Amino acid sequence: MCNWFQFWSRITAGERYRFLISAPKMTELTEPEVKLEALLGIINSSARQAIAEYKKTGHGVPSADATTFHPLDMATDTLALRKATRLLEGAYHQLSAILAPPQHTVMNFVFDYNWACTNVALRARFADVLEQHPEGLSVDKLAEAANLDKSKTARVLRALSLMGCFKEVERDVFTNTRLSLILKSTNNTGCYAHFHSRDVSKYAGVLYETMIDQEFSRSHEERGYRRRAFWDMMKKDDERRDIFHRGMLGYSEMTGTSTFLHQYHWDNVCSVVDVGSGIGAFSMPLAKMFPHLRITNHDLPEIIVQAQNAWEKDAPDALLDGRVEFVPNNFLEDIPAAGKDVYYLRHILHDWPDAEATMILRNIRKAMGPNSVLLIRTTEGLSIDPQAPEPMLPNFGAGSHGVYQIDLTMWFLLNSKERTLDELKIIAQVPYNSSLTRRATAGLALTQVYDLVETMVMEFRIA
Ligand SMILES: C[S@@+](CC[C@H](N)C(=O)[O-])C[C@H]1O[C@@H](n2cnc3c(N)ncnc32)[C@H](O)[C@@H]1O
Repeated sequence: MCNWFQFWSRITAGERYRFLISAPKMTELTEPEVKLEALLGIINSSARQAIAEYKKTGHGVPSADATTFHPLDMATDTLALRKATRLLEGAYHQLSAILAPPQHTVMNFVFDYNWACTNVALRARFADVLEQHPEGLSVDKLAEAANLDKSKTARVLRALSLMGCFKEVERDVFTNTRLSLILKSTNNTGCYAHFHSRDVSKYAGVLYETMIDQEFSRSHEERGYRRRAFWDMMKKDDERRDIFHRGMLGYSEMTGTSTFLHQYHWDNVCSVVDVGSGIGAFSMPLAKMFPHLRITNHDLPEIIVQAQNAWEKDAPDALLDGRVEFVPNNFLEDIPAAGKDVYYLRHILHDWPDAEATMILRNIRKAMGPNSVLLIRTTEGLSIDPQAPEPMLPNFGAGSHGVYQIDLTMWFLLNSKERTLDELKIIAQVPYNSSLTRRATAGLALTQVYDLVETMVMEFRIA
């Protein structure tokens, strides 16, 4: 026998919602009120799940005044915390959109200059300076260190402090917080935020203009407005390239890429090719966790040089053991190292239109042996069947914010997109030797999908 409270806390949020809806006589609540109660229930239970995840580490929960990271912030497997966060964010945004005046909610969409203030904080290195002053630093000194105006610096910091990023400990004196530590120049996620707030946001500012542009408004092709400019800029600008590739490491941390280190049977794998590896955002942690693996990193020549430097600094053991190789490879033209167990593609296909994406898959398909697998890691949410409990939006609403923003990012930056599972299956499945035209597809069959919250990994084998 369990009491009412035990019964209520044991059933799922969806079951609670259906229970309340189907028992109108037991309560005086109207249907909209039942929905609000159910959302409150989801907020409560998901927050409790998140608290439990922090406590499992033995270090308690993070404090609002924390000035250091919590051990869970650095953990490699955070799938449970990210599942709870998706529910929490989705439910509280939905609740707030119902209860707040609509004028307020809509203006919140556009009253959002956090990206611009974050960009200032990153480029002026406020978090690096504040780290030397744990007791707090006056805005005069901080502005002087960054060669900026003091009152404007204070306004930027105050705007970010509202969101918990930096803290004003007394009037005009600021310290770091657990959030502002992400903005240190050594932090990879900070690099990703830097790249985004500097390069992606300015393209977002001219979105409508691009949608009515005479020449490119209906283009979904490579020549569509920005691709060449973006990769050319990367090639010529060492600082931006460095920030971008360290940012890709940060993107891994943000989306919990390392979770896949725990979710796949790497013990049964001998060799891995990371196609378009960047500096090794995935392959480096993989090599550290599974020292038996032999890894080939493929990318453009200038990135391969950058990758070798990064590994010399951050994973010298793997280099000394000779279990990692760095081989320049143009995935649009060249066939990757042949006959390896796993070919890994992370955040590559979403950069390219169908014709080029197919070409990349065909080249990999040619390298694969009968037992090779291709793992494609991509953004989830546009693809996987909705699982959110009622009365949440089926796709978790604002809990899936990041997924939809990444899709828009690909558009703004490269005129490309995140593909749905079905779209990826189409370009991968048709026999690769059916035709040798640019549009011939790759001859791969989907064998498994791993849902990792916000991202997913699809496993393909030769059809
Ligand atoms: C979005 S990054 C992803 C990097 C890495 N897979 C990751 O997840 O961190 C895209 C990568 O594709 C590489 N790339 C672009 N064009 C390429 C080409 N034609 N051949 C090989 N690599 C290319 C870029 O240099 C970059 O490292």
